[in-house]
Amino acid sequence: MKQPVIYEDDVVKGFITWSLVWGFVAVLLGVFISLQLAWPQLNLPPYLTYGRLRPIHTNAGIYGWGIGSFMAFFIYITQRLTKAPLWSPKLARFQLWLFNFTIVACAATLLAGMNRSKEYSEHEWPVAILVVILWVIFSINIIMTVIKRKEEQMYISLWYILATLVGVAVLYLVNNAAIPVSLTKSYSAYAGANDANVEWWFGHNAVAMVLTVPPLAIFYYYLPKSTGVPIYSHKMGVIAFWSLIFMYLWTGAHHLLWTPIPDWVQTLAMAFSVMLIAPSWASVFNGYFSMNGQWHQMRENHLVKFLIFGITFYGLQTLQGPSQAVRTFSAFIHYTDWVPGHVHMGTLGWVSLTLFAAIYYTLPRIYGTEIYSVPLVNLHFWLAVTGQLIFSITMWIAGVQQAAMLNATNPDGTLHYTFMETLVRLYPYWHGRAAGGIIYLASLLVFIYNIFRTISNAPSKSQTKTA
Ligand code: HEM
Ligand code: HEM
Repeated sequence: MKQPVIYEDDVVKGFITWSLVWGFVAVLLGVFISLQLAWPQLNLPPYLTYGRLRPIHTNAGIYGWGIGSFMAFFIYITQRLTKAPLWSPKLARFQLWLFNFTIVACAATLLAGMNRSKEYSEHEWPVAILVVILWVIFSINIIMTVIKRKEEQMYISLWYILATLVGVAVLYLVNNAAIPVSLTKSYSAYAGANDANVEWWFGHNAVAMVLTVPPLAIFYYYLPKSTGVPIYSHKMGVIAFWSLIFMYLWTGAHHLLWTPIPDWVQTLAMAFSVMLIAPSWASVFNGYFSMNGQWHQMRENHLVKFLIFGITFYGLQTLQGPSQAVRTFSAFIHYTDWVPGHVHMGTLGWVSLTLFAAIYYTLPRIYGTEIYSVPLVNLHFWLAVTGQLIFSITMWIAGVQQAAMLNATNPDGTLHYTFMETLVRLYPYWHGRAAGGIIYLASLLVFIYNIFRTISNAPSKSQTKTA
């Protein structure tokens, strides 16, 4: 008789719990720095200043909340899709411990002012070494589980998972090449424009390999699980996957349009960014077509609502992104608040809504219980979407106004507005963003309360799932 597979779910619980802690810290800091922009007197030197807290916010958001939950779901999904137990639960438990230690080390060093001044790659070399060890442990465990799989077919989510593991490793190693001069200071191995080019090759592919590919792995797994019907086209998913991976790697220089890096590099980045619409929307359509005959579930199934809104924000994000990558449009919106509007539609809309759905699906199952309150899930959903839309829309309007003012010239060619005049006009929008952020924070509190009550209601020892 076939032996049931014993899945390692305790470590999944640990990763979900800790990613929630870091997600809460990220949003709390996000609200605080948005208040600091609106009321500069909230800057409390030397530690609690905008300059020190902003990178902690982005790191807690992308790495603590994002990567922490991707680790949870990669471990959960890989076991189910391969029908094999995790290769080494012991290693995974060590990984959880190291993950939290690394996030704390990262926050503490940034708070102390140690910063490589490379966005999303700010950590000094001792912390970077911890990140490398963490990633190697994680990758070995997942790759070995895939190698030892009992299910021959590789479902599309597994491709996205493997791409994340390889992609992040390559990007991180290349961009972190540095010469240490002390325990707390290093200099990049690249100089000048080359350094900027490598940084944004990393930066945009971090968007790809952290904020796009892992949520897609999760989306492709949880949408069919939530609706109960298969994905519309697995083949379309695989084609979209390979073209997405191929195209993303050329786009980083769209962050450096109109700079001294070679013109052809900028044009290449612009062209590939526009081409990215096709593989991105292939996944959006795959999601929508999977809903054929199932749209009623948007009303009845809270998980579906999160996932379909999430993929819709992804669709909007991947139309807005390519347009920002076009030289003329970039000249207008670059260096304005338009960009944080784009960023937070992606992080709060696409990434976080998808993660919320995955947590709502997974936690009750591994704790052997039901979600505590569906009305609270709905409240969470509407508060989150409202907060995010207020945030993004105020930033887009602010960005257009700011761009128009920065570009306005007098007949003799001099600037019509001083920089201070353009800045002061942003205050009402910054108040609006803070309000949106507070609503999003409230949504997160509702979410955490619901999850806490769900876990408290669980039977003392969780049931081991076998399929
Ligand atoms: C409601 C919650 C949030 C608020 C109020 C908030 C607020 C902010 C603010 C004020 C900035 C600085 C914008 C500027 O440079 O002018 C920022 C930047 C950023 N935040 Fe958030 N944030 C929130 C949630 C998140 C989450 C959950 C993530 C990640 C998952 C995230 C990722 C980022 C990133 C990547 C940037 C850098 C954007 C750029 O350089 O253009 N944020 N956020
Ligand atoms: C087809 C896909 C996409 C393209 C072509 C694209 C393009 C761009 C461009 C051109 C910028 C630079 C704007 C500027 O500073 O002038 C940007 C910024 C950014 N995008 Fe996207 N985007 C895409 C999808 C996404 C997605 C799905 C996310 C997920 C959250 C995302 C997150 C970000 C972030 C975090 C930044 C800010 C980087 C920084 O300056 O710190 N993008 N994107």
